[in-house]
Amino acid sequence: MSETKANILVVDDDDGGRYLKAHLLRKRGYHVLEAATGMAAIEQCCANPPDLVLLDVMLPDINGVEVCRQIKTAHPGIAVLQTSAAVISAHDRAAALDGGADAFLVEPIESEELQATAQSLLRMRGAEQALRRLNERLELLIAERTRELTEANRRLELEIVERRKTEEVLWHTQRLEAVGQLTGGIAHDFNNLLAVIVGSMEVIRTAIEGNGEVLPRAKVLRMLTASETATSRATKLTQQLLAFARRSSLKFDIVALDEVIVASEPFLRRALGEANRLSLSFEAGLWPCRIDAPQFEAAILNLVVNARDAMPQGGDLEIATGNEIVDATEVRRTPDLIAGPYVVVRVTDTGTGMDRDVAAHAFEPFFTTKEVGKGTGLGLSQVYGFIKQSGGHVVIDTEPGVGTTFRLYLPRCDDVRLSSIAQDRAPGMTPTGHETVLVVEDNAEVLELAVTTISDLGYRVLIAADGKAALDIVQGDEPIDLLFSDVVMPGGMNGFELISKARAVRCGLKALVTSGYASVHRPDANRPDVPLLLKPYRRGDLAQCIRMALDRV
Ligand SMILES: Nc1ncnc2c1ncn2[C@@H]1O[C@H](COP(=O)(O)OP(=O)(O)OP(=O)(O)O)[C@@H](O)[C@H]1O
Ligand SMILES: [Mg+2]
Repeated sequence: MSETKANILVVDDDDGGRYLKAHLLRKRGYHVLEAATGMAAIEQCCANPPDLVLLDVMLPDINGVEVCRQIKTAHPGIAVLQTSAAVISAHDRAAALDGGADAFLVEPIESEELQATAQSLLRMRGAEQALRRLNERLELLIAERTRELTEANRRLELEIVERRKTEEVLWHTQRLEAVGQLTGGIAHDFNNLLAVIVGSMEVIRTAIEGNGEVLPRAKVLRMLTASETATSRATKLTQQLLAFARRSSLKFDIVALDEVIVASEPFLRRALGEANRLSLSFEAGLWPCRIDAPQFEAAILNLVVNARDAMPQGGDLEIATGNEIVDATEVRRTPDLIAGPYVVVRVTDTGTGMDRDVAAHAFEPFFTTKEVGKGTGLGLSQVYGFIKQSGGHVVIDTEPGVGTTFRLYLPRCDDVRLSSIAQDRAPGMTPTGHETVLVVEDNAEVLELAVTTISDLGYRVLIAADGKAALDIVQGDEPIDLLFSDVVMPGGMNGFELISKARAVRCGLKALVTSGYASVHRPDANRPDVPLLLKPYRRGDLAQCIRMALDRV
């Protein structure tokens, strides 16, 4: 705003004084309005707000200081120059400024002074207005930017929700895919085995019943062998599945892994084949580990067989062991690995390697890239399940065309050496006895089979269908030398609970348990004072275990 085009309201009840001031200002180019009373001034300010008010203090109706206060309250943007014809005290001038006036002049006012003061006030007002406009613009910009940011934030939140939904769907789909693959694989393999068993049974039944053609004895024996082979393959299959589900009943023992590897070296060389070179490298002073040695051997064998398959043109395989303290940095690099001391076994081949997709699925049961009949896809799931159940971790480092390294982390063991039931077992003839065995089993067929087998071995047999019936017998007078119980039974008492209750009645009662997957229910897997016999068991295993349980001191 240019000051010369400004509107100035001159308020003075004295016509002469008012005319003089208005005239002077008009001459300077201002647009001047006039008012003779305080009320008229306030009304004019409302109707057509001027830029500056020249306000006399002494007015006939309202005091100029009060007029100024009202104008400033209603229109803070209007500049007010208070004037007074009377000689007034410093106190009155201060009161006028206090009422909101921007400046104060005492009349008679020199024309230059009036003009300069008016100009200065208008300049200040202009600057104030510019500042206010700038502020308003800034506020608008900030509001606009805030709106944009809020909108961007809202879009981001929506995207996050969408992505999370997509991830959940993907995860669910992958799980379903894995479960589908697993169940499909189990069904497929079991159907094949069942087909052999059912087919053989039918042939044998026909031979026994003598309907139709009479089968030669040799053929019947072949059928029996076929169905026995199928049965043991089915048993192996369930063991592999249980290994993956970490429900294998592991027989832990404290071993030096390098000794186990050395002991199975000839076997591993045969499995690897002559076209490939095997080298072993062991760090001196390897820490002991608490593992199931046969399961460890099986895991190494699975890795060796995989390496052989990955090196069809021949190649090198190295098995190396070393002690390693896994620290926080290593844990960050390898998810699921827990910090601590480990023995690490590295199995490295110079084979085909795996692409990302294969490596991501390699541990899944029934995942195989091999032709039908060449692989079941259970090898690595055994490795994974066994290592996990042993408190360790397994990592694949692989590069297509270069080779693969499997890193097996097995926790260091600081316990003393334990003896396991597997070590006590003496191979050879089937042991027998004459003691009394109390057999507890809820499944009628399994019970009948156990009773028949145990009686055949020469023992006296007592039977109970659950824990409560067994306790009744224990509380009676019958002599009992061994309590042979299933682990999972109806009636709310498992095999281990039954044994503790029975021992409360008969101190030191010898016991043996049997189960499909008992390790999870075992109250203290570290103290095998109750030997465990895995189902399905053979006659020889049962005989060995009963004898061993009876002979334990
Ligand atoms: N050393 C390796 N080099 C390249 N690929 C491998 C290696 N080990 C495993 N794989 C890949 O991982 C897949 C799964 O291996 P896994 O041992 O579980 O099953 P499999 O060898 O196919 O069958 P199985 O071991 O049951 O006979 C293999 O089919 C193969 O594609
Ligand atoms: Mg394999």
